[in-house]
Amino acid sequence: MLPLNALFHFTALFQFTAVFPFTHQAMKLFTHHCKHVLLLKLTIAWSALLVMNIVRAEEGTISFKRDVAPVFLENCIACHDAKKAEGGYRIDTFTELSKPGDSGLLPLAGTQDDVAELLRRLKTEDQFERMPAEAEAIDPSQIQVVADWIEQGAQFDGDNPDERLSFVIPPRDYPPAPTPYPARLQVTALAFSSDKNLIYSGGYHEILVWDIDGNLQHRIGNVGQQTFAIEFPPKTSDDKTPGVDGNWVVVASGSPGLGGEVRLIDLTNHQVTAVLARCDDLILDLAFRPDGKKLAIAAADKTIRIVDMESQEIEQTLLSHADFVTAIAWSADGTKLVSASRTTLALIYYFTVC
Ligand code: HEC
Repeated sequence: MLPLNALFHFTALFQFTAVFPFTHQAMKLFTHHCKHVLLLKLTIAWSALLVMNIVRAEEGTISFKRDVAPVFLENCIACHDAKKAEGGYRIDTFTELSKPGDSGLLPLAGTQDDVAELLRRLKTEDQFERMPAEAEAIDPSQIQVVADWIEQGAQFDGDNPDERLSFVIPPRDYPPAPTPYPARLQVTALAFSSDKNLIYSGGYHEILVWDIDGNLQHRIGNVGQQTFAIEFPPKTSDDKTPGVDGNWVVVASGSPGLGGEVRLIDLTNHQVTAVLARCDDLILDLAFRPDGKKLAIAAADKTIRIVDMESQEIEQTLLSHADFVTAIAWSADGTKLVSASRTTLALIYYFTVC
């Protein structure tokens, strides 16, 4: 009774509307999505170009953590991480990507006369040699970023060259949440913290933390516009997660048509420490496997991604749905994953637990 009271209390207090039945909300989102997606994508393309030009003009130097690491994370990590080091080559940390693979050729080159093997593999016309293997060449502007960075000395500007790229890349900063809220906002995500009996709810560009009497305890900023899932890791015997010391939570937030992200928040300092997944559409649900080792991510781009929590990398992308994947859940033994989509079809995937 008490938590329910508290919920009504704070929804009234902050003028949030009641939680919608999800299908209704997904329909609304979809209509909104179709109408605005083209315009939004054009706007994003223009703003991205403008921002890129301003950044280049102002700073002139290419930053590894800001400009280069996202290119590798997006295009190369699937075949070149600790688990799957194709060609004996890893690209999951700066230290690793500086070491030669099976060819023995220096990936980043020593002197100006040497050819950096990594760059040669991006540029070559030979499709059997070009990277990423078995795919189109990456965007010429991305190749240029890598080329400029190597020409400028291939410097590492992060804190720790042995840290995985998803930690090295600074999470994009979102604007602070407004105080007070100018309009009503649907609460589309709620969760109880695993230990302290606090309630976490999705706000506008923030996560609000309440005690069970409805008193606001914290406001955690720097998340996407609207939050669709807040998920605490299950309590397991080994609770160690790379990058965070104490308690943590993952949240999925974003804006329709603009994209969504899964951010990992360290609850000792309320800082976002990593972006576990990025998607060019909304991420609608999250579920930890009961042993806490895998996180399933359901997205509006029709995919389900499985993140391995130890390496914090996307290990699998499941593509069987024909529409938004709206909800996802694991069986208690962690061998089955059930998912629901807007087409109301639920698919069951079977996993070997590892
Ligand atoms: C679909 C899997 C796949 C993806 C994605 C991929 N690679 Fe590779 N890569 C391979 C395989 C397989 C080899 C070994 C065969 C070869 O040398 O062509 C290789 C070899 C390499 C080598 C040579 C290592 C050595 O010294 O022998 C480099 C450098 C490299 N990849 C860089 C990249 C970069 C940079 C990207 C991202 C833009 C990338 N790869 C994406 C599969 C992949």
